Amino acid sequence: MDLMIKNGMLVTAQEMYVADIAVKDGKIMAIGQNLTMEAAQTIDAKGKLVLPGAIDVHTHLAMPFGGTISADGYYSGTRAAACGGVTCVFDYPMQRKGKGIVETVEARKQMCDVEACVDYAFHCCITDLNDDTLLDEFQAAVDYGVTSFKCFFVYKKEGLMVDDGTFLKVLKKAKEVGAITNVHAENPDVIDYHIASFLKAGQTSPWYHYLSRPEFVEAEADKRAIHWSKAMEAPLYLVHMADEEGLREAIKARQEGHPVYVETCPQYLEYTCDVYKREDARNFVCSPPMKGEESRLALWDALEKGLIDTVATDHCPFQSYEKDWGRDDFTKIPNGCAGVENLYPYLLSAANDGKISFMRAIEVCATNPANIFGCESKGSLTVGKDADIVIYDREKNFQVTVSNMHSDYDHTIWEGKEFHGYPVQTYVRGKLVYDQGEFVGEAGFGEYVKRVPNTK
Ligand code: URP
Ligand code: ZN
Ligand code: ZN
Repeated sequence: MDLMIKNGMLVTAQEMYVADIAVKDGKIMAIGQNLTMEAAQTIDAKGKLVLPGAIDVHTHLAMPFGGTISADGYYSGTRAAACGGVTCVFDYPMQRKGKGIVETVEARKQMCDVEACVDYAFHCCITDLNDDTLLDEFQAAVDYGVTSFKCFFVYKKEGLMVDDGTFLKVLKKAKEVGAITNVHAENPDVIDYHIASFLKAGQTSPWYHYLSRPEFVEAEADKRAIHWSKAMEAPLYLVHMADEEGLREAIKARQEGHPVYVETCPQYLEYTCDVYKREDARNFVCSPPMKGEESRLALWDALEKGLIDTVATDHCPFQSYEKDWGRDDFTKIPNGCAGVENLYPYLLSAANDGKISFMRAIEVCATNPANIFGCESKGSLTVGKDADIVIYDREKNFQVTVSNMHSDYDHTIWEGKEFHGYPVQTYVRGKLVYDQGEFVGEAGFGEYVKRVPNTK
């Protein structure tokens, strides 16, 4: 064996038990009590938790957006991922008018091949169907390992928005080829109406970012997306769910038997719209914005009950000087916040404090993401899967500050947050990439995860 991790408390989505894990050639070869195989390296994890690596299924690395490019590229973004126990990230390449899906993804893959420190996969954002000819390429995209397509209901002026007709075509075609449609659901026309009225009245602070896209703006779009998913009998994945009304509709649809999945993010679990009244409010500007306390509590309640499928980050940080573009006009603030290094510590700390179970944290950060998005070799501590493993110290306290993060950003919305318990080692396919606060991985080690379609 290459590696033996002994005496740790293994956590899966179903159970926790003490066992050893044996690793060879990047795979989990055996799990059991008192394993006796020889190993090149043996780690004693007694007293620690041994977890599957998290899969952050929502990141925007090196993303051209808001008049700039997000602050973390594939190297720094995946370096930060490794240091937060994330062993696989999903990025969102942006197909543009006249361009194909595979060529769009391929260009990003080439960057990742050189830069990524953890494994990576891609959803593809569809922004223009090229007079419907792009639909013919969905099968090729799936064959390439891209089994999810994303539609934006918003970002009209950025040229990302799709109309309902396009959304329907994507839903239908995605289903046909065994893929799933992801959606960013907010109502663009209501947002534009609000923005115009606020700017006219000189109401330009980040608080008006929230007021231009409050609860009902997201809820309408969530419900519309769910409606079309049901009508097309096609699977739907709602990204970054932040509002209670939309959440309830999604839960109802699922309970009626429709394949509607819900993702939320740590920022919606932690913060409310009150952040938009703070001095540093513009740093929290993301879309959808944080909502009221009722929504925040509803998200925690659903998470605890197993009614939220995944927690991912929507990692899309910008530098302070870029956020400052919106000092006098909230519409000029690039939308997005940091999170990839904080995801697993945040949820695991909540588990350590008894708010949710450790098994639930593993389910939403690793096992469900792998299952929903067809990552056959990932998502749990199981013989035959990739040895993506995190060792977690329940006793280690950690306070976030920008200088102990491993990104390229210059501020974080998580500044000052205290976590009870913290990852101490991360292994990607058996290779140590993070050790006690230090990144020890390397650019280019990350591998492309070719996903499998849903054939059911
Ligand atoms: O504000 C955000 N979320 N920025 C990234 C793009 C998106 O909408 O996911
Ligand atoms: Zn979005
Ligand atoms: Zn996003």
